[in-house]
Amino acid sequence: MKFFLDTADLAEIEEAASWGALAGVTTNPSLYAKIGGKLADFNNHMKRICEIVGPDCPVSAESVAITRDEIVRDGLQLAEIAPNIVVKIPTMVEGLAATRALADQGVRVNMTLCFSVPQALLAARAGARYISPFIGRFDDISQDGLAEVENIVAAIGNYDFTANTVNGEQVEIIAASIRSANHVTQCALMGAHIATVPFGVLKKMVQHPLTDKGLDSFMKDWEKVQNA
Ligand code: G3P
Repeated sequence: MKFFLDTADLAEIEEAASWGALAGVTTNPSLYAKIGGKLADFNNHMKRICEIVGPDCPVSAESVAITRDEIVRDGLQLAEIAPNIVVKIPTMVEGLAATRALADQGVRVNMTLCFSVPQALLAARAGARYISPFIGRFDDISQDGLAEVENIVAAIGNYDFTANTVNGEQVEIIAASIRSANHVTQCALMGAHIATVPFGVLKKMVQHPLTDKGLDSFMKDWEKVQNA
């Protein structure tokens, strides 16, 4: 499993990138609004994220257009920002059509707001490079988000979509709307390729009380060795 950071916060991205295990970043309009982002700064902000994580890490920048042609125009402009930009597009009819058009022009797409197996299968056939099923938002309405991701991973794994994607790349499932380290564990066990996590969850993923306890006793014992 690869780990993406789900944020538009540059300090969080710099910190997570320095840990050595970050493989990408996902953003959305809400995350950009959360950091007080302004429309005029958007492209520069995305460019800065791309520079921080480096050319091998995909950075998802979302289109807020609604019609096919607008989304395609938006997507082509976003793709100009940096070679590692992935255009994030909501799973809807116009979004599917735009994904096909962008994939045909060599632009990678992350289909977002995906909540079902049929949506995921259509996204893959339309040429999406990444598909992002949301977990937490299902849980928010008392439904089982993890079960839906498990179904999507299994269904996508049943077929070969390489004829549909840019450069014949494999479709990867990004487990999104992750709210806990346990969500990450469950997604890894079901074979989701990527988990995109908020910085708070990433920090919790590193921690374990027995690691803290063990470290504490090693340090105390080493002090005894030094004073012996
Ligand atoms: O990547 C999508 C994610 O940001 C949605 O998360 O917590 O707003 O449901 P959330």
